[in-house]
Amino acid sequence: MIVAVINNKGGTGKTTVSVNLGAGLANLGHRVLLVDLDCQRSATRSVSDSSTPPEFTSADVLLHGIPANDAVVQTRVRRLDLLPGGMELAHTDLVLADVPGRENRLRDSLAPIASSYDYILCDCAPSLSMLPVNTLLAADGYLVPLSPEHLAFEGLTSLLEAVHLIEEGMEVELKMLGIVLTMVTQVRFSAFHPEVRDQREIIARVQARYGTDVFRTMITRDPAVARAPASALTVAEAAPKSRGARDFSALASEFLERTHTPSQMNESDMTPHSTNMPFGEDDR
Ligand SMILES: Nc1ncnc2c1ncn2[C@@H]1O[C@H](COP(=O)(O)OP(=O)(O)OP(=O)(O)O)[C@@H](O)[C@H]1O
Ligand SMILES: [Mg+2]
Repeated sequence: MIVAVINNKGGTGKTTVSVNLGAGLANLGHRVLLVDLDCQRSATRSVSDSSTPPEFTSADVLLHGIPANDAVVQTRVRRLDLLPGGMELAHTDLVLADVPGRENRLRDSLAPIASSYDYILCDCAPSLSMLPVNTLLAADGYLVPLSPEHLAFEGLTSLLEAVHLIEEGMEVELKMLGIVLTMVTQVRFSAFHPEVRDQREIIARVQARYGTDVFRTMITRDPAVARAPASALTVAEAAPKSRGARDFSALASEFLERTHTPSQMNESDMTPHSTNMPFGEDDR
C-alpha cells in the first residue's frame, strides 16, 4: 500500500509522522519503505548518516529515470528502507514541465518495487505542486498530519478542497486514510494555559467536522520526538520509554487496524469519539 503523507501547510508533523509511523509499522513486522519527496531532505536526515551521501535519490528516480530499486537503501531500523531525498527535487516542476505523463512519474517509478513492501510512506513537501500531486496519484490513500494551531482548521479545509479539485481534474478517487493530530500539548504541564484551551477548541472542531476520519491516537508534543532526528534516530530508538515513542507505537497499531478493515464511514459515524487525548474528560 502506498501512502501519501501530505499537508500543504508547513511544519504540521509530516516528516515526523512518516519516519516514526514507518518505524512503528516496521517494528510490528511489516516491510516499510520511507520515500523522501522533499528537497529539505528531513526524512533522509532523520534516519540516515548524513556523512555518507546516497548514490541516488528520489530526484534521480523521478527526474532521470534511475530505477527506484537502485536508489533504495537500508536504515538501521529492521525492515525499514529509505528512498533518500535530493536537493534537485526543488526543480521538479521545471524539469517535468513538458514531459508527457508527468503526473504519473512517481506511480510508474514505484511500480517495480511496490510488491516488495507492505507499506510505502511518502513524505511530501509542504506544497501542492507537481510533486505532491504525483504522490497523491501514486498513492492508495493519503494521511494528513495536523497540528492543532491557529488557522489549522482553515488550512485543512483548503487542502481537502485542493484534493477534490485534483480528483475532478484527473478523474480519480483519492482515499483519505485519516487525519493525525500532532504536537498536542500535555495538559499536566499547563492545564490552564491559553494554548491548551485553544488546542482543545481546535481539536473539538476537527473531530466534530471530520468524525471517524480523525485518528483516535494523537501525537503528544514531546521534546524526545523533536530531539531524536538530531542523532538520526527514530523516537522509539532514541527514547523508547518516552510518551512520543508510546504515541507512535499506538499510531502504528491504529493505522494497521484502519487499513486492514474496510472503511465503515457514514453519516452516523460523524460524532466525536473516544481518544487518547492528553487531558481527561473532566478537564474539558
Ligand atoms: N510530537 C512532537 N513533539 C515535539 N516536536 C515535534 C513533534 N512533531 C514534530 N515536532 C517538531 O516540529 C517540527 C516540524 O515537524 P516536521 O518536520 O515533522 O513537520 P513537517 O510537516 O514535515 O514540516 P515541513 O512542512 O517543513 O516539511 C520539527 O522540528 C519536529 O521535530
Ligand atoms: Mg517535512
